[in-house]
Amino acid sequence: MSTARHIIALLKSYVEGQEQQFHSAALQIAAHEARLGHGKLAKEIKDLIDQSKSNRTSIDRKGSPVPLAQPKGELAELLAASYPKTKLSDMVLSPEVESRLKRILLEQKQKNRLSEYNLSARRKILLVGPPGTGKTMTASALAGELQLPLFSVIHSSLIGKFMGETASRLRLIFKAMLDTRGVYFFDEFDAIGTQRSSSNDVGEIRRVLNSFLLFIENDESESLIIAATNHPNLLDEALFRRFDDVIEYGLPSEKLIRRFIKTRLSMFETHWDSWDTVTAAARGLSTAEIARATEEAAKHTVLCHSQKISQQDIISALRERKEIASQRINKL
Ligand SMILES: Nc1ncnc2c1ncn2[C@@H]1O[C@H](COP(=O)(O)OP(=O)(O)OP(=O)(O)O)[C@@H](O)[C@H]1O
Ligand SMILES: [Mg+2]
Repeated sequence: MSTARHIIALLKSYVEGQEQQFHSAALQIAAHEARLGHGKLAKEIKDLIDQSKSNRTSIDRKGSPVPLAQPKGELAELLAASYPKTKLSDMVLSPEVESRLKRILLEQKQKNRLSEYNLSARRKILLVGPPGTGKTMTASALAGELQLPLFSVIHSSLIGKFMGETASRLRLIFKAMLDTRGVYFFDEFDAIGTQRSSSNDVGEIRRVLNSFLLFIENDESESLIIAATNHPNLLDEALFRRFDDVIEYGLPSEKLIRRFIKTRLSMFETHWDSWDTVTAAARGLSTAEIARATEEAAKHTVLCHSQKISQQDIISALRERKEIASQRINKL
């Protein structure tokens, strides 16, 4: 093979993020140089390959689950890649939600076995529920558990001003799902999934939704597609059928509130007389808001050089969050 061909192979594997091919193309160049009698050059290339491999191993040991796939070109503006370490056990979930998420993980982990029987693992999931209930965290936890990269769709870059722009960007994202297995997360999904017949309907919204429906229907990749929305009522009926699972998130029950506060404050002493008053103060708040309140109470305790979070501290922090939440609602 000529050196130009070698360089093309090298560049192609780099562009496609194929690390193994990249190393083997580089090795071929080293072999080529050795054959030409350029032993020193060949050794230099070989040493660099070894160095690159050992760097990768040390990154892997640090816990990087998959070769770092970074979106390139136009995709870089559409997808934000991350490698979450979140686990499902970090979340506090109702038994129904937890068992449905566990089923997705089980099917994904056993997808090869399922495919031997022509069965496919669940992978198109719609998450619905109020703000701060763990939808985004779920996308991270699924990626973390499956050791897959999380690609979050960047909304402001997806929605274009011109006719057909958004649909062609969606096409790119769906192509990426085929090329790189990962968890592809469409947050604020209502922006694309709005009802085709709604009154603010313009041709473009319908086109975008229709393309999404077509893409998701035809998608045969091995990636997970997770969409999340606070407004399921705005979504087009046709969408629900395209998902393998629609999972509903809600505000935490008293039992979950108690479990959540206990884990969040596990570094502190919390010998309270009555959990009931604490959970009552938290009732109606989202898990995210309760997380904020526990953090406030913990900070207050640390700054008072104490180890014990008093019942009054946690209750005041929760009440403060409630007040902030109700002021926000009043403003809307
Ligand atoms: N079920 C949960 N278990 C544990 N922590 C949670 C849970 N829900 C929310 N949290 C905490 O609240 C933060 C925000 O939650 P998250 O972003 O997942 O909410 P969301 O449902 O995506 O909200 P939004 O609809 O506003 O996007 C999380 O990072 C986490 O700290
Ligand atoms: Mg979210």
